[in-house]
Amino acid sequence: MFDMDIGIDLGTANVLVYVKGMGVVINQPSVVAFEKDTKKLIAIGTKAKKMIGRVPENIDVIRPLKQGVISDYTVTERMLKAFIKQAMSRKATLRRPKVCICVPSGVTEVERRAVEDAAYRTGARSVLIMEEPVAAAIGANVDIIQPCGNMVVDIGGGTTDIAVISLGGLVVNRSLKVAGDDYNEAMIKYIRRKYNLLIGEPTAEEIKIEIGSVYPRPSDDYMEVKGRNLLNGLPDRIQVSANETIEAFSEVTAQILNAILGVLEICPPELAADISQRGIVLSGGGSMIYGMEQLIEAKTGIQAMVVEQALEAVALGAGKSVEFMHKLKKDS
Ligand SMILES: Nc1ncnc2c1ncn2[C@@H]1O[C@H](COP(=O)(O)OP(=O)(O)OP(=O)(O)O)[C@@H](O)[C@H]1O
Ligand SMILES: [Mg+2]
Repeated sequence: MFDMDIGIDLGTANVLVYVKGMGVVINQPSVVAFEKDTKKLIAIGTKAKKMIGRVPENIDVIRPLKQGVISDYTVTERMLKAFIKQAMSRKATLRRPKVCICVPSGVTEVERRAVEDAAYRTGARSVLIMEEPVAAAIGANVDIIQPCGNMVVDIGGGTTDIAVISLGGLVVNRSLKVAGDDYNEAMIKYIRRKYNLLIGEPTAEEIKIEIGSVYPRPSDDYMEVKGRNLLNGLPDRIQVSANETIEAFSEVTAQILNAILGVLEICPPELAADISQRGIVLSGGGSMIYGMEQLIEAKTGIQAMVVEQALEAVALGAGKSVEFMHKLKKDS
């Protein structure tokens, strides 16, 4: 009988499921739509995300995770169950899966337990909980087993995890409840304040991905943005520049930068020396905002690089870890 080992990145913005031998088979937004009265599930993932801001009153579209942790337990469980079922349907097996699931490094014991329980209730045979930055490092092929300091900054949707890892474990870490989604919020506020234009979250995210920057571009870029004019209530459009997004994002960016500088300050000197030599590894969707590497480099004096698969690194790391655990068990 085939074994089913899966790694899950249960993120605020996206859920990724990695199946041993198959790679990442599910990569969907952490969004669920259901009927308010009957609680009947209507859509999940991409389909549900497209419904945000566009549903009638009797339908609720929610993100069951906020700032990296479960805020709606029942809905999270339903979402996990649906994704695990989808992932399992791709492989012929009757055995219950062994699961490695990632959480931000700053979660409390209660929050950790909640994730573990949710995974067990979806039918997992065994559950390993792993810190997101450790998984991101493994997923990005950073050799974390050596007695050498590695700094990983995972900027997700709801949390930024900053960790110094050596000998396979966290030496210093900080989890900040500020990340990619806060850039969307900042954009909405900025456009409302400056242009009296109300935009929705999907539009704000589009601006962020298309022209959003935290560091000046070689030449300024522009984008047309549509929304509702708050003065006359009518649809309206404006031009937003990349340089304006730097201004809009400045507070969120400063919080992330200060947290990185704070971790470097309390990092033991030997490990700090390793980091300055090896550089800072960036992962998570939030690290893909234009200029994040350059900004961190400019403010810390240490080279920073976004990993190749910034959105998948955590799931890949979780998946690799289940395979590894499995091997250890077989060998022992
Ligand atoms: N190309 C891009 N440029 C800028 N931001 C992006 C890009 N692609 C995705 N993002 C942002 O990355 C964030 C999602 O990243 P990710 O999938 O790593 O988060 P998550 O793991 O779900 O969240 P968390 O780890 O906080 O629970 C969202 O805020 C999204 O808008
Ligand atoms: Mg994440």
